[in-house]
Amino acid sequence: MKDRVKVAVLISGRGSNMAALVYAAKADDCPFEVALVASNVPDAPGLLLAKAEGIDIFTHTHHGLSREEHDQIMHDAIVEAGADYIVLAGYMRILSDEFVGKWCDHMLNIHPSLLPKYKGLNTYQRALDAGDEHAGCSVHLVTPTLDDGPVLAQTEVAILPDDDAEVLADRVLIAEHQLYASTLAQYITREADPDWILNQVRKHALALEETYERPSFGTPGWRVGSEKTGKYFAYFSLRHFGESGTSVFVKTSGLDEQSALLDADPDLYFAPKFYGKSGWIAIRLDTGHTDWDHVADWLKKSWRMVAPKKLTKMMDIAEEF
Ligand code: GAR
Repeated sequence: MKDRVKVAVLISGRGSNMAALVYAAKADDCPFEVALVASNVPDAPGLLLAKAEGIDIFTHTHHGLSREEHDQIMHDAIVEAGADYIVLAGYMRILSDEFVGKWCDHMLNIHPSLLPKYKGLNTYQRALDAGDEHAGCSVHLVTPTLDDGPVLAQTEVAILPDDDAEVLADRVLIAEHQLYASTLAQYITREADPDWILNQVRKHALALEETYERPSFGTPGWRVGSEKTGKYFAYFSLRHFGESGTSVFVKTSGLDEQSALLDADPDLYFAPKFYGKSGWIAIRLDTGHTDWDHVADWLKKSWRMVAPKKLTKMMDIAEEF
């Protein structure tokens, strides 16, 4: 079986979403495993189930600790368990900005409303009071503002004429259990999707000044400068010219730097056959653990190598001081 991505599930109570994830992870083709269930409530009912299923558990009360202190204790336990992602499942704690920052893009939450509607508590009653036709649930990435990060997926749940908050909550919960496992599976395998990878490269390349995209020999490329005299600083390669896998080509300062990189990290870099002789280097993007900050740094470096002087002048001056 392929290595599965390890996730830590954080709960404060019943833990039915945690249970749904644990059972989903029993399927042979599930890309994640629950490596840890952690709680700020030492007697949270969900912990019993996790333990019975043979999953490591960790608890530490938040009483008597600052938010930062408690978050740090949870963080250490999660890292110790080897988890790459945190899944909040009814974890009723507001998290410190520092903790959220450490797990940026690697922490998901489920919320019982169709966000951005009804952040916070009493979501079902608020949907009923508003006369909504649908309630629902959302899985979103966690950012410092409560229930506010980018929504990854939602399920609508019809409101029936006789629903009260309790009955509606029970039905939304069924939808939550389906939605969380499938969204988590899709999210953690996104780096295997070439379209997702291309969009990441595109986002970073077009964030640089005076850049635009233009295909080159059938592959997306990014140029800096004017339409007429602009120069390429990056190419996307999905098995382009017979290369393997998915990569981005960027410009090094020349063949010396290129061969130093190839020696230093042959798993990450290779010399693209078609462009290699001019000092271009390929960075693999399908290893499953791409460091996107590193890729963004490379794009910037490559951009700087070919950008018109008027764009780089200020940077050069700033660097002299
Ligand atoms: C779930 O309904 C979840 O959406 C909600 O708490 C419940 C936990 O149930 N979370 C929030 O309201 C977060 N803002 P569970 O412990 O049985 O999974």
